[in-house]
Amino acid sequence: MKVSRTDELITAISAAAIVVGYTADTPPEGPTAEADAATNGAISKLIEAGEITGKAAEVVSILAPAGLQTTQLVVVGLGPADSLDRGSVTRAIGSAAKHLAAKERSRVAFFVGDWDGPLVEAGVSAAICACQGQDIHRETNKLHPFDEIRWSGAPEGALEAGQVLGESVNLTRRLVNEPANYIFPQTFAEQAGAAAADAGLEVEVWDQAKLEAERCGSLLGVSRGSTREPRLVILRYHGGAADQPPLALVGKGVTFDSGGYSLKPNDSMKTMKCDMGGAATVLGAITAIARLKLPVNVIGLMGLVENMVSGDAFKLGDVLTARSGKTIEVLNTDAEGRLVLADVLDVAAEMKPGGIIDLATLTGACCVALGLDVAGLMTNDEELRGRVSAAAAACGELTWELPMFDHFGEQIRSDVADIKNIGEGRWGGAMTAAKFLEEFVGDTPWTHIDIAGPAFLDSAKSWIDAGGSGAMVRTLVEVARDW
Ligand code: BES
Ligand code: MN
Ligand code: ZN
Repeated sequence: MKVSRTDELITAISAAAIVVGYTADTPPEGPTAEADAATNGAISKLIEAGEITGKAAEVVSILAPAGLQTTQLVVVGLGPADSLDRGSVTRAIGSAAKHLAAKERSRVAFFVGDWDGPLVEAGVSAAICACQGQDIHRETNKLHPFDEIRWSGAPEGALEAGQVLGESVNLTRRLVNEPANYIFPQTFAEQAGAAAADAGLEVEVWDQAKLEAERCGSLLGVSRGSTREPRLVILRYHGGAADQPPLALVGKGVTFDSGGYSLKPNDSMKTMKCDMGGAATVLGAITAIARLKLPVNVIGLMGLVENMVSGDAFKLGDVLTARSGKTIEVLNTDAEGRLVLADVLDVAAEMKPGGIIDLATLTGACCVALGLDVAGLMTNDEELRGRVSAAAAACGELTWELPMFDHFGEQIRSDVADIKNIGEGRWGGAMTAAKFLEEFVGDTPWTHIDIAGPAFLDSAKSWIDAGGSGAMVRTLVEVARDW
């Protein structure tokens, strides 16, 4: 999609649709007032009649508006003025764009007022994401990306940054939405390598033989049951000073999670193509960071396996030796994400980064604790966790911290190995999983983001289709912005 600035008046621009904003409880102003004047007060009439209230993300279409060179004027609610932020802009602009994307449209113009760079960036990225659906294998799509977006009153650089963000979030979403017969470790690695090379990143891929040579016994244990070979993809971006410790981003990339011998029931298994969401998030974020040329050093590590059953699959009671040397008793083959991450975190920690952030669709327990829209944060370093929380809040992404009390760690002690891969009973599962991961980061500042809820939407929202959401890509870019 082409994105460019327009300096034309709202009455002069010719477009398939024009979008204006309306802030609750205020008279129309700026371009909205101009559109109102041009249409003989159509907007004010609708406000008076209560059809337009300015409620956040409300979308009202005025068809064939007089006085404008368009067939459709969309008035989108921006909520109350004091609640306008990147989150509300994402929902509002996304809702307007998704409404328009129901049909093919050539040019859509946004005249939403004088916003600062971060708000315009959020608006542009939301529009790009809203037009892209999960219908990638349908002959006729339900959503149609516009040919072109024109944006009025954008500060220098904001449109370009918004476009990079939107495209990066869509890259993550597309990989999550691809079914597991299309995306498996090898094809994920190929596509990640291609996207990364386009963004100017250094690409390294560990195949089965290299993973064996590196003694990644925990990751390889999970992978055994699959006929698909595992991969570890390592991407490097050098944007900062040579001596600046990098930010390491680590992603869980289970391209399909059947549960293994601890087999999932049908209903829990049917969306498990999404279990590589952490790896896809890391890819989206690091390609965005590189394309934005941020002055930081970043390493992205993606552990890619398929968790399957076969005569050679790992079994309950097996003891795996992780790359770090720790032994792990496997008491549930469905607690596989932590086994994959154990070795990837060990590789990351060895690179002496300034901090590690891992992303993983790790536990159903995190969804029970926080609901489906909130990512769980667990950490060994409150300072780093604070930076992640602040970045997420700035982008309008929802996160909440969960505790890392010592007693959660006591639950993963094993009688036959150094640790075991599940806690005692089902309570506190998000935290016992995080305590397991903590065993492999040494003293590196680390924050774990459990995205089991937000990475994949079971139903559409007004501003984004169902399926892969790209949650936390924006947050990671924000963390990198002041690393
Ligand atoms: N991939 C799942 C977690 C998950 C659940 C992601 C729902 C997205 C939506 C993970 O590998 C898993 O199966 N976790 C188990 C852990 C348990 C066996 C300790 C779970 O949450 O039930
Ligand atoms: Mn599992
Ligand atoms: Zn899993």
